[in-house]
Parts: sequence; C-alpha cells; structure tokens
Amino acid sequence: MKTKYAIVFICIVALVIIEKESNILSRFSDKLIQRQAPQQTPQPPLDYSNITQNGSLMMLKMLLSKLIGTVGYNSSLSEEQEEEELDDLGTYSFSGGRKHILLLATTRTGSSFVGELFNQHGEDMFYLFEPLWHVERMLTTASESNNGTVLSGIYRDVLQGLFLCDFSLLEKYIAPPPKDHVTPALFRRESSLSLCEESVCSPVVKYVFERFHCKTRRCGPLNLTLATDSCLSKQHHAVKTVRVRQLDTLQPLVEDRRLDVRIIQLVRDPRAILASRMVAFSSKYQTWKTWAQDGQVPEDDEEVKRLKANCDQIRMSAEVGLSQPRWLRRRYMLVRYEDIARYPMQKAEEMYRFTGIPFSPQAREWILRNTQTMQEASGIYSTQKNSSEQAEKWRFSIPFTLAQVVQRVCGPTMELFGYRFVDDEKTLMNKSISLLEEKLFL
Ligand SMILES: *[C@@H]1O[C@H](CO)[C@@H](O)[C@H](O)[C@H]1NC(C)=O
Ligand SMILES: *[C@@H]1O[C@H](CO)[C@@H](O)[C@H](O)[C@H]1NC(C)=O
Ligand SMILES: *[C@@H]1O[C@H](CO)[C@@H](O)[C@H](O)[C@H]1NC(C)=O
Ligand SMILES: *[C@@H]1O[C@H](CO)[C@@H](O)[C@H](O)[C@H]1NC(C)=O
Ligand SMILES: *[C@@H]1O[C@H](CO)[C@@H](O)[C@H](O)[C@H]1NC(C)=O
Ligand SMILES: *[C@@H]1O[C@H](CO)[C@@H](O)[C@H](O)[C@H]1NC(C)=O
Ligand SMILES: *[C@@H]1O[C@H](CO)[C@@H](O)[C@H](O)[C@H]1NC(C)=O
Repeated sequence: MKTKYAIVFICIVALVIIEKESNILSRFSDKLIQRQAPQQTPQPPLDYSNITQNGSLMMLKMLLSKLIGTVGYNSSLSEEQEEEELDDLGTYSFSGGRKHILLLATTRTGSSFVGELFNQHGEDMFYLFEPLWHVERMLTTASESNNGTVLSGIYRDVLQGLFLCDFSLLEKYIAPPPKDHVTPALFRRESSLSLCEESVCSPVVKYVFERFHCKTRRCGPLNLTLATDSCLSKQHHAVKTVRVRQLDTLQPLVEDRRLDVRIIQLVRDPRAILASRMVAFSSKYQTWKTWAQDGQVPEDDEEVKRLKANCDQIRMSAEVGLSQPRWLRRRYMLVRYEDIARYPMQKAEEMYRFTGIPFSPQAREWILRNTQTMQEASGIYSTQKNSSEQAEKWRFSIPFTLAQVVQRVCGPTMELFGYRFVDDEKTLMNKSISLLEEKLFL
C-alpha cells in the first residue's frame, strides 16, 4: 500500500513540474510571438486560443486537479495562483501582437489631435476617423431604431468589424450605398493617412462630379476592398470616435480574443466644452447664447438636461474604467485634454507606452511641429499661441452664469476629473489661478 501511495505521489510531483514548465514555456512563447510580430510581414490575426487554452495543457490541468482531489493534496494550485494564471491569459490575447486602440471622447475635447498622434505613427498603423458617423446618421434619422441600447450594440459590432478589417457591416450604413464596394462618400477619408496611400488610391476618372478625397494625392472614390487589404497589412489599428456613450457596452469587444483592445478615454473640463461648442456649433447653441444675455437659465430646460446627461455618461464610463473590472484591467486609460495641452510630448509618450506600440520618430516629430510656438502656415510664418494657452481661452469666452450652470449639473463629473469650481467671475478670468488639480489616474 505504501509503495502505491509513493508512486501516486511521485506521479503528481512529476505532473506538477511538467505543468509549471509548460506554463512558463507557453508564456515565454507568447511573449516571443508578440516580440517577433513587428518584423514579420503582417498576417491576418492568428488564433492561438485552441492551442493554449484547449490543448494538452488543459488536459494536464484537469488530470492534475482530479488527482489532487482524490489524494487530498492541496497546496500546489492555490486559488491565488489560479487567479494569477487567469489574469495572465487575459493579458495575452491572440491578436498576433496587433494592438487595437479605441479613442473614446466627446466633441471639443481635442480628440482629433489625439487621434492624429496615432494617425501619424507611421506605416504600420491603420487609423480611422469617426467611422461611426455613418451609423449615427442613418439610424438617428430613421426614427424607429432610435434606441440607445440598440444603437450602442451596433456601434460595438461595427467597431469589431473594423478592428478585424471587415468593412461589410459599416458598408450597410454608408449612404448612398457603395457600388461594388466602392464609395465616394466615406466620412473624412482624408483624415486617415492609410486611406490615402498609393495602394488604396484608385485612379481618378475624369467625371465632372468627381471629388477628390486626399490631401496628398488625387484619388478616385474609395475601393473598400483595397482599404481592407491595407488594413490587413498594418500591424496596428486605431479608431477615434465621439459616439460611444457608455464604456460598459464595449465589454464583448474588449473580450474578443482575436483583438488586443486598449481604450483611451479623453475628457475635458465641461465648462470648456460648452464654451467651445458655443463657438463651433454656433446655431445649435443659440439657446445658450440667449440665456447668457438674459442672465437667466431655466434649469429644467431640455438643453440643460442634455448637458447633465452627457456629463453623467462620461463620468459613469470613467468610473467603470477607473474601477478596473477584470475585463478592462490594463486596457483602460483616462487622459485629460488639459494635461495633453500642457505636456503634449510626455502625455503622448504615456499613451503610447500604455498601448504597447513603440512611440515612432514620425509621431514625435509631428507633435513638435504642431505644438511649437512658431508654425509654418500656408507659406508664411504665423505665431501660433502655445497649446496650454489655447486650452485656457475658454475662461474668457464663457459667461460666468453659464459656468455656474455647468458646475451645478456637472459637479460630480468635475470633481472626479479634478476640475476646480469658481465662485465668481474674477476667479474664472484670473489666469494665475489654476482650475486644474494635479491628479493621476491609475
Ligand atoms: C483550432 O482552430 C482551428 C481554426 O480556428 C481549427 O482548424 C483546428 O482544427 C482547431 N484545432 C483543435 C485541436 O481544435
Ligand atoms: C475545447 O474545444 C472544443 C471544440 O473546439 C469545445 O467544444 C470545448 O468547449 C473546449 N474546451 C475548453 C475547456 O475550452
Ligand atoms: C485546501 O485549500 C483550501 C483553500 O485554499 C483550504 O480551505 C483547505 O483547508 C485546504 N485543504 C487541505 C486538506 O489542505
Ligand atoms: C430598446 O430596444 C430593446 C430591444 O428591442 C428593448 O429591449 C429596450 O427596452 C429598448 N429600450 C428603450 C429605452 O426603448
Ligand atoms: C477594387 O479593388 C479590387 C482589388 O484590387 C478589385 O478586384 C476590384 O475590381 C476593385 N473594384 C472596382 C469597382 O474597381
Ligand atoms: C505657454 O504658455 C504658458 C501660459 O502663458 C506659459 O506658462 C508657458 O511657458 C508657455 N510655453 C511655451 C513653450 O511657450
Ligand atoms: C489673481 O489671483 C492672484 C492669486 O490669487 C492674485 O494675487 C491676483 O491679485 C489676482 N488678480 C486679479 C486681477 O484679481
């Protein structure tokens, strides 16, 4: 009897050793795969899921746990270790080293600038600027499907397709519908360097109505098949959107094992956003202007309610992200516009570090060119105010009454992000008083 137990025990020890080693090996090879990936010619995402998860390792583990159960041997796989392993599995996705950056923002938060940081990364980046514009336009004009729940599900599915270089779902929302997967109507195509590369640029046919969509070269309508090929050939994918309202609706996207999603949520002082929108979307914000003149704001007005709802959604998304649920661990980063304006290079470095994509010399150069005080504009040198100065301009354009309204309805959001309240107009307009708390979001 004793020898029987001894044999069983030896078997277990052997299995434990094998298990540990193969675990280390598989982690090591995962890392290797991630490291080597950039040098390889990019391939469609590799699916390792049924090798690592479902192969012999799983079998060994099951066998082990059964043996352990029967013998009552307990210490080799504590619950803690199990957790750790699950975490590791979560960290290594099976995207073949590809990163999928989702830049979440609202309008007037500097998201075009931050999107450009990734657009300018270089040859191995495929960047799309607001592809969900098409979805929103089609679905919010068709009244019957104007349902937030449905809409956010469609946004998520379209994003998933795009991250996998599949444009077919997006195509359904492009109006007029593409013919043979060719469209002249892709929203802001020229904002995507990769959609203006020579390989994606189909020849211009000399029709009177022909429109040209690229700054760098004359391109005909966009052939989405070529766009797909370009996308598949790029190592990393990035999408900027101001249309996703709730972070938690993206959970299935983040959990897709074919993707390695990193979400950057960009926020800004809600008072500054309102001030900026009043200038940029002047006619839409006429009511606010009238209120500013009257000095009276009816707090139960739809406009005020909408402002509050927007602030609450941004805050709730940030709360989800900052609470680091398992599905988002190491995949979420909160960035304040004001910090980017103050320290553009440092913040860009941080964002790149977070995404796991090397910060390229091209991106660095682009930042230098676009944040320095002197900038060449259309042949003549013009002094451009530095970016942190620009970021504070709103303090002189927003009437104090409106700042107060924002503080009242967006208070919790401002507190979470570290935006200081002001009690009087003097403080609002006194530049030597900072409205920004130093705050780290980790
Ligand atoms: C693994 O997945 C691939 C495709 O996803 C499939 O062809 C293959 O049969 C699978 N292997 C096992 C062992 O399930
Ligand atoms: C292993 O793969 C098979 C078929 O591919 C699937 O039915 C089964 O659920 C998988 N098991 C685990 C533990 O993932
Ligand atoms: C087995 O591990 C569990 C949880 O770690 C513990 O509660 C239990 O007492 C252990 N049993 C033995 C026999 O060590
Ligand atoms: C939206 O539509 C879904 C499914 O059709 C439904 O379950 C949900 O209650 C709707 N939500 C609203 C707010 O109408
Ligand atoms: C779009 O590009 C694909 C791939 O090169 C090509 O086969 C197809 O004919 C093009 N479509 C049109 C309408 O030119
Ligand atoms: C930008 O402007 C701010 C505020 O006026 C000033 O403190 C800062 O030194 C300026 N930075 C540069 C690079 O000019
Ligand atoms: C602005 O604030 C600073 C610091 O509180 C104060 O010393 C200064 O007098 C203020 N300037 C004006 C014009 O109120």
